[in-house]
Amino acid sequence: MSIDPGVLLRRAAFRMDPERAHEAALRALQVGGPALAAGASWMSKRDGSVGQQLMGLDFPGPVGLAAGYDKYGRAVRAWGRLGFGFAEIGTVTARPQPGNPRPRLFRLPADEAIINRMGFNNDGAAVTARRIADARRGAGAGIPIAVNIGKSKVTPLERAAEDHLASFRLLRGVADLVVVNVSSPNTPGLRELQDRDHLTAILGALRDEDASMRRIDARAPMPFLVKLAPDLPDAQIEDAVDLAGELGLAGVVLTNTTISRDGLIDPGAPVASEQGGLSGPPVRKRADEAVRIAARRAGDDLVIIGVGGIMDADDAWQRLASGASLVEVWTGLVYRGPLIARDITLGLMQRMRDEGVSHISEVTGSALAG
Ligand SMILES: Cc1cc2nc3c(=O)[nH]c(=O)nc-3n(C[C@H](O)[C@H](O)[C@H](O)COP(=O)(O)O)c2cc1C
Repeated sequence: MSIDPGVLLRRAAFRMDPERAHEAALRALQVGGPALAAGASWMSKRDGSVGQQLMGLDFPGPVGLAAGYDKYGRAVRAWGRLGFGFAEIGTVTARPQPGNPRPRLFRLPADEAIINRMGFNNDGAAVTARRIADARRGAGAGIPIAVNIGKSKVTPLERAAEDHLASFRLLRGVADLVVVNVSSPNTPGLRELQDRDHLTAILGALRDEDASMRRIDARAPMPFLVKLAPDLPDAQIEDAVDLAGELGLAGVVLTNTTISRDGLIDPGAPVASEQGGLSGPPVRKRADEAVRIAARRAGDDLVIIGVGGIMDADDAWQRLASGASLVEVWTGLVYRGPLIARDITLGLMQRMRDEGVSHISEVTGSALAG
């Protein structure tokens, strides 16, 4: 009887403390990433039917790495080689910060879920920018790299725009797109930045800075996106989408983790009452609804990136059909393994063939008619 080495590795990882297992996985990818065969056989199976030009960038596949997995930008070269079509590095803050005390990452295996209250542990924008720049030299990442930025914990909310601007100045040169994270539940007060005034100040400052830098370096305009929480009421999602349109953003990322504990199969799990954001299948339904709300509101004006509880190709298909053009995974990496993006992409291609769909963009919004 042969045992899948991925299954063995996962069993070993699940015996470790969750954060240590995560660090070990990242170290392996950091060291092994550049050597992962760029021409791995599966890549030749991925074809133009899943490649898209969006926001002025070429996405070779629709499945991205969600923010918070590679907060330090250590494995930038690995993601494309594992089958991801793009990767979101960060959240990066202007200043380095240690995050919350450990333990701060918890598994809920019966739900294939995670609770985390990491609190934006990261090396700060200057160090992370240098690390990403190094990784992008030569063969580089091979996929669009998004950098997710958030407010430093020590910065008061009313100075959030300056803080984001400081990060953006350092990271602009290494990012293909920038996601503004105003939806983490783990920095006190942060989600208040989702309101109209704060968002206008932050994104206005970033856009103005980009415009003045472009007068010097003539780069293409930076695509900016905003990442929203699943816990926002429907009307506030609509309002944020309207505002994203008014501010000329490229898109929205829906959703972050939830503070709700509804829908857990095992609400009595020892860690279910830990503080923090819940991710994985329990957030899937609300994340999917949020994408539908945003897609109905935005029409074709904004690119929607769907994230939350996507574990397989059916989940990804559903999220695209609800209006997302791209999807992302985090918790799925833990429960389904490092080849999840490849597996989902191949699964989407199979379903496209089965349903006579010639290009992935035709799936986007296909469940919204009527
Ligand atoms: C341990 C952990 C850390 C995270 N850190 C961040 C972060 O720094 N910035 C961010 O925007 N989202 C962060 N997220 C949220 C994910 O990007 C994603 O939005 C959420 O987990 C839902 O997707 P999933 O169900 O595939 O995990 C984090 C999630 C987890 C599980």
